Amino acid sequence: MHWLCDGGQSGGCPCCEDVLHGSTSESPPRKFAENYGSRANPHIIEYGSNTLKSNAQIAARFSVAPMMDWSDRHCRYFHRLMSCHTLLYTEMVTAPALVRGGAVHLLDYNVEEHPVAVQLGGSDPKELAAAAKLCVERGYDEVNLNVGCPSDRVQSGTFGAVLMRDPCLVADCVAAMKDAAQDIEVTIKCRIGVDDQEPEVILPDFLEKVSAAGINRFTIHARKAWLQGLSPKENRDIPPLDYPLVHRMKTAFPHLHLSINGGITTLNETCAHLDVMDGVMIGRAAYHDPATVLLNADQAIFGDTTPARSAHEAVEAMYPYIEARMAEGIRLHSITRHMLGIFTGRPGARKWRRILSEGATKPGVGVALVAEALSSVPEHIPAD
Ligand SMILES: Cc1cc2nc3c(=O)[nH]c(=O)nc-3n(C[C@H](O)[C@H](O)[C@H](O)COP(=O)(O)O)c2cc1C
Repeated sequence: MHWLCDGGQSGGCPCCEDVLHGSTSESPPRKFAENYGSRANPHIIEYGSNTLKSNAQIAARFSVAPMMDWSDRHCRYFHRLMSCHTLLYTEMVTAPALVRGGAVHLLDYNVEEHPVAVQLGGSDPKELAAAAKLCVERGYDEVNLNVGCPSDRVQSGTFGAVLMRDPCLVADCVAAMKDAAQDIEVTIKCRIGVDDQEPEVILPDFLEKVSAAGINRFTIHARKAWLQGLSPKENRDIPPLDYPLVHRMKTAFPHLHLSINGGITTLNETCAHLDVMDGVMIGRAAYHDPATVLLNADQAIFGDTTPARSAHEAVEAMYPYIEARMAEGIRLHSITRHMLGIFTGRPGARKWRRILSEGATKPGVGVALVAEALSSVPEHIPAD
């Protein structure tokens, strides 16, 4: 186990697991090719009248959160099949793992995932700059710095949420990353504070100091991290959410692009936050119930008029990807474990999950198992 790993408390360690193997798969998600397909490094696209914005900034109106062990490349590919426009974040990859450990394979991803942002962990400006450069060379659309992860191991390495105490160091880090990343946007994901800090006081100070280093985009998880006594999992639920505070930050810093994160589970809630905020990030709900969160996101959030895929269509669209990855030696379960929640709340959902959970680790299984599981879920829900 790598020294940064928190023993699986937060759900995995990007330094220890081969979580981001990359490749180019054969079946691009629908519409992807129209937007990005012919671009080698498509980080700038034209949007609206004459405005040029990075595709990551446009997509940041709605994003799926970085989640260790969950938002790996298979998961992101599946999510991309449900939404073409949503910004997808990788799991956190630590700068030491990339720069000192040479684990650049952690940056591998499927080209269809664009717009895709990579999240880095670290607190050494030089090391973060070197890591950011590697990310840019790989063609990521955004490089994000983790200032929110409360894991003990992360604290001991001065990573993550503990950096809320040192905005000047964060400013130095992002300034160095920005220099290295050139025209690729560097962003921050942070909390409203840690431990006994007073969020109303420290959050504006943090935004002021870090934005002075040239950072314009922040995602704020609307709760504190308590660095002593709570596990990373508890730190995602127990400290209370303070949405009004985050909304006030948008009023106080109208020139910054601010996204809100934490406890948001539906597109209706998302739209309500978007009345105030520039962006919304969803984590657990997107993973556990991707159909509710993602299938209509392009239409509801980005005004796309293309009809949304159905959940069945999204599953079927995974078949070529599954076959291609399995031909490379990846186990079926590594992919299907991210698909278990697609029918949450629907008749047949339990059987779908059971067939995949019990069957996908067995030798010799493949797409036929997924098709069998899919046949247990009625495609059309009968009207009452
Ligand atoms: C399994 C898991 C792993 C996570 N890993 C990361 C991570 O690597 N980096 C990070 O900034 N946040 C991480 N988070 C926190 C999420 O990005 C998000 O901030 C948090 O879950 C709150 O959003 P939600 O209520 O929409 O889930 C993780 C969350 C979960 C559930």
